[in-house]
Amino acid sequence: MSLNLLRWWGKRMTKWIEVGLVSDIPVLGARVVQTVHGKIAVFRTEGDKIFALDDRCPHLGGPLSNGIVHGMRVACPLHNWSIDLDSGVAAAPDEGCTMRYPVKVEDGRIILCLEGELTQGETLAESSAAA
Ligand code: FES
Repeated sequence: MSLNLLRWWGKRMTKWIEVGLVSDIPVLGARVVQTVHGKIAVFRTEGDKIFALDDRCPHLGGPLSNGIVHGMRVACPLHNWSIDLDSGVAAAPDEGCTMRYPVKVEDGRIILCLEGELTQGETLAESSAAA
């Protein structure tokens, strides 16, 4: 198999990893997972929805995992941009987008997909699940 074909397969494959329990994350809080893609922040909403975003604000790279979760958004701790947890998009009038990752919950375990980053416009509805 050629190296190019291996690279193609590598991009097409998905890698799901268990990163902990929903109960490990405080309600309206976050937990950071160190991955080959860098730090990924895993958030828990008041309704126990779980979302995963790069732990970098689209403004100046602030650590979103240190922000305050409110509703379906997180407020960046540095300059208070509000980032949508489902889309990764900054709320207007700010502009920018943080990479998001598919995540699912099975029996209270959080499972994160490292190879399946979603692009802007795709939905996480199928990859996010209530605990
Ligand atoms: S770095 Fe997040 S709002 Fe500025």
